[in-house]
Amino acid sequence: MILNSLSLTNFRNYVRLEITLPPHITILQGNNAQGKTNLLEAIYYLSTATSPRAETDRQLIHWLAERDVLPFARLVGQVTKGGEALQVEITLMKGQNGNSHAELTQKGIRVNGVNRRVSELIGAINAVLFLPQDIQIVDGSPSHRRRYLNTLLCQIDPRYYRALHKYGQVAFQRNHLLRRLRDRRQDPEQLSFWDRQMVETGAYLLARRLWLVGRLNEVIAGIHPDLTGQQEHLRLAYESSVELAQPARAEDGLQLALSLEAEGAAPDVARLRQAFEEQLAAKRPEEIARGASLLGPHRDDLRFLVNGTDMTIYGSRGQQRTAALSAKLAEVEWLHQETGEMPILLLDDMVSELDPARRNYLLAMLARAQQAIVTTTDIEGFSPEFLQQATLYTVREGQLEPASLP
Ligand SMILES: Nc1ncnc2c1ncn2[C@@H]1O[C@H](COP(=O)(O)OP(=O)(O)OP(=O)(O)O)[C@@H](O)[C@H]1O
Ligand SMILES: [Mg+2]
Repeated sequence: MILNSLSLTNFRNYVRLEITLPPHITILQGNNAQGKTNLLEAIYYLSTATSPRAETDRQLIHWLAERDVLPFARLVGQVTKGGEALQVEITLMKGQNGNSHAELTQKGIRVNGVNRRVSELIGAINAVLFLPQDIQIVDGSPSHRRRYLNTLLCQIDPRYYRALHKYGQVAFQRNHLLRRLRDRRQDPEQLSFWDRQMVETGAYLLARRLWLVGRLNEVIAGIHPDLTGQQEHLRLAYESSVELAQPARAEDGLQLALSLEAEGAAPDVARLRQAFEEQLAAKRPEEIARGASLLGPHRDDLRFLVNGTDMTIYGSRGQQRTAALSAKLAEVEWLHQETGEMPILLLDDMVSELDPARRNYLLAMLARAQQAIVTTTDIEGFSPEFLQQATLYTVREGQLEPASLP
C-alpha cells in the first residue's frame, strides 16, 4: 500500500500542505517542534480516524482557525493498493455555538467521494505507527495493552469496532445503574437487561481478542528471537477477568470468533457466553456494593512473557522496549497476512532509541516495506547505504522542503 499524496488544511501546525510521496523510504528531518510527529499523526488519522495522542479531535484543528467563523481541518490522502487508486478525505468541523465541548467537533469521512462512517473507513488505508512511547504497551497500565489489541482489531474488523463502541456505552449505563442500586434507588431486576447486553457484545470482543493473541504469538515466534540474538522467547497471554478455558491454538480462537459472527450456537460460544453470564450473576452483590462493572473485556489485560517471566513486572528497561518493539513488528506482519497488503510504516523518532542490533533489524524491515515514512532530528543515526535508498525532506514550521544528502 502506498500513500501517493497528502493534502492538509489547518491540521495541527500545517496551515496548508500539498505533497506527493514516493514509494519506499522517506525521511523527514527537522528540529524539535517543527511538525514531524504531526505529519505522521495526520497519515495515521486518515487510516483510523483516531489519534493516539489527541484527547479530542478539536486539538487537531490549527489554533489560528479558531478565529474563523467555521473552524475546520481537512485531510486528503490518495493511496494505491492492489493496483487500485483510492481517495480518503476527513473533515473536522468545530461546532457553531462556540462552546468548548469536545463532542461538538464533527467528523466527516469520504472514501472516493462517498460519505462513510468510521466503521466503513476500516481497511481503506492500513498504517502502523511506531512511537517512542510504545514501551507503555509493556510497562504501562492495562489500558495501554487493551488499546493495543483494540487498535489492531479495529483495523480489520468493522464489527469489532461497532461492538467496542456499544460495549463502552453498555458499561457506562450499567455503571450508572449500579451506583443507583448501591444507593438503593432502583430495582435490581433492571440490571438483567444490561447484563444481557454486556454478555452479547463482550463475548464477541473476548472471542476476537483470544483469536488475535493466538495469531500474534505465531508471528512473534518468528520475530522476537531474531531481535534478541536467539536469547529470548516472547509469548503473549490474554488475561481475562472472566474465567474461561483459553484456546490452545489460534484456530480455536478463530473458530470461536467466526461462529459468533454467524450467530451460531456452537458449543464453544455458548460456553463463553454462559461463563460470562454465570460469573456476572455471582459478582452481582459485589458489583452493586462497589457501584462498578468488575467483569468483562474492559477489565482484561495482556501478559508479555519472556522465557516465562512477566515483562510488565520484572522486565528490564531494555527487555520491555524490545518486547514492545516485537509487538509493533508483529502488528505489521499480522496486518500484512490479514489484508494481503503491506501497511504503510510510520516511524516517529525511533532510530535513536535503539541499540545497533535492534536498529539494524528495524531498518532491514523498512527496506522491505512498500512505503515507510521515518522522522528524525538528526540523519547521522542512519547508515550511508540506508540514506542512499531514501527520499529526504526537511520539516520547518509546518512546511516540507525537498532536501539532499549533505
Ligand atoms: N492544533 C494545533 N495548532 C497549531 N499548532 C499546533 C497544534 N497542535 C500542536 N501544534 C504545534 O505543532 C508543533 C509541532 O509539533 P510536533 O509534535 O509535530 O513536533 P516535532 O517536529 O515532532 O518535534 P519533536 O522533535 O520535538 O518531536 C508544536 O510546537 C506544537 O505546539
Ligand atoms: Mg515529534
